[in-house]
Amino acid sequence: MQLRWSHAVIKVRNMETMTRFYMDVLGFEVADRGPLFGDSGPEIVFMSQYEGDHHQIAFVEAREDEGPSNSVDHIAFRVDGLADVREMMDRVATCPDVDAGAPVTHGNAISVYFKDPEQNGIEVFCDTPWHVQQPVIAPWDPSLDDADVLKGVGDTFAQKPGTGPMADYIGDRATHFAGRTSK
Ligand SMILES: [Fe+2]
Repeated sequence: MQLRWSHAVIKVRNMETMTRFYMDVLGFEVADRGPLFGDSGPEIVFMSQYEGDHHQIAFVEAREDEGPSNSVDHIAFRVDGLADVREMMDRVATCPDVDAGAPVTHGNAISVYFKDPEQNGIEVFCDTPWHVQQPVIAPWDPSLDDADVLKGVGDTFAQKPGTGPMADYIGDRATHFAGRTSK
């Protein structure tokens, strides 16, 4: 298994200030935004300037002014396929220092979320063949075989507006980013 860096999700105090800075100074664009849990929760804003990742960074307006609140919600690593996600779940499940990982899908990815021994959030995911407008979240059943997991994920999001082949989305984004004037 090879872990490849994908994205960080950061808890922020002021969404407007942070998104404005990352857009105007660093050149990011908003890929998607909405309530974290679909119809409830704090707003999440996904940002990217590269077609290979739906988001390279995302902000959640959930950082507390006082106390132990940390700015990093989770960091995420991409792996080659579902077998690697399952293997990571097994490794985490046998680790005495951490809770079992949560199997979650965003439609465009099949993931396991867990926390390291100091409570930093980690996501390990593989891609699916589909782009799905974010944010969306649903569980997946690790007791199913790979084909049924993938079918279940596809069926869950197939009717959602904007869902389509990932290759089409990446092609569209590549054209878009290639056409940007450099700052
Ligand atoms: Fe993530």
